[in-house]
Amino acid sequence: MDGPSGTGKSSVSRLLASRLGASYLDTGAMYRAATVWVLSQGVDSTDVDAVTTAVASLPLEIGTDPATERVEVAGEDVTGPIRGGEVTAAVSAVSAVPAVREKLVAMQRDIAMRSDRVVVEGRDIGTVVLPDADLKIYLTASAETRAARRNDQNVADGRGDDYAGVLADVQRRDLADSTRALSPLRPADDAVTVDTSDLTKDGVIDALLRLVHDLQGAR
Ligand code: DC
Repeated sequence: MDGPSGTGKSSVSRLLASRLGASYLDTGAMYRAATVWVLSQGVDSTDVDAVTTAVASLPLEIGTDPATERVEVAGEDVTGPIRGGEVTAAVSAVSAVPAVREKLVAMQRDIAMRSDRVVVEGRDIGTVVLPDADLKIYLTASAETRAARRNDQNVADGRGDDYAGVLADVQRRDLADSTRALSPLRPADDAVTVDTSDLTKDGVIDALLRLVHDLQGAR
């Protein structure tokens, strides 16, 4: 399951895995955990050589139960810290470092191979990590819809109301993600694109379950 942020990808992936009795892997959480490790080592996230050295000894453990999120770095629970502002600000730089992607992609393939059925969520799963996945879904929504959802969340969390600012940020990130040299965000050629702009979460899940059932019926 690939796609930009703000499409409901995480909650949909987790719920889909639960409904299918499958494992779940949040690869964004792995890039965030690598960033926690880099920052904890006192490394500047924009220093490619230093990040490369730090990530060589990344002590990362990630759970695959869709009911409980578990991310550990050096034996410490970092489930909360990976969503913090400092990590969110630095994760783009860290995830652009080739050695980081190499290491995490290898871990992701290993976890997927060891799972009987697994929903893997990220940006490059269908294109790079698991090109032979049985079903590739590219979840998308208009920039306006994603910005409105994020702004609503900000308002609910008491972080202010700034739709125009959030929309500009979403558009800037879309451009950066889709034009970066390494693993740019794009649907795999054989991915099914699902636009969630006009769908409820239940509507998205129903559409995805139908795709899975069609796939099973075709076998
Ligand atoms: O989905 P998220 O916001 O938790 O992702 C965190 C960061 O990691 C984001 O900058 C995109 C990056 N990422 C990536 O480059 N490749 C992935 N497969 C997953 C996430």
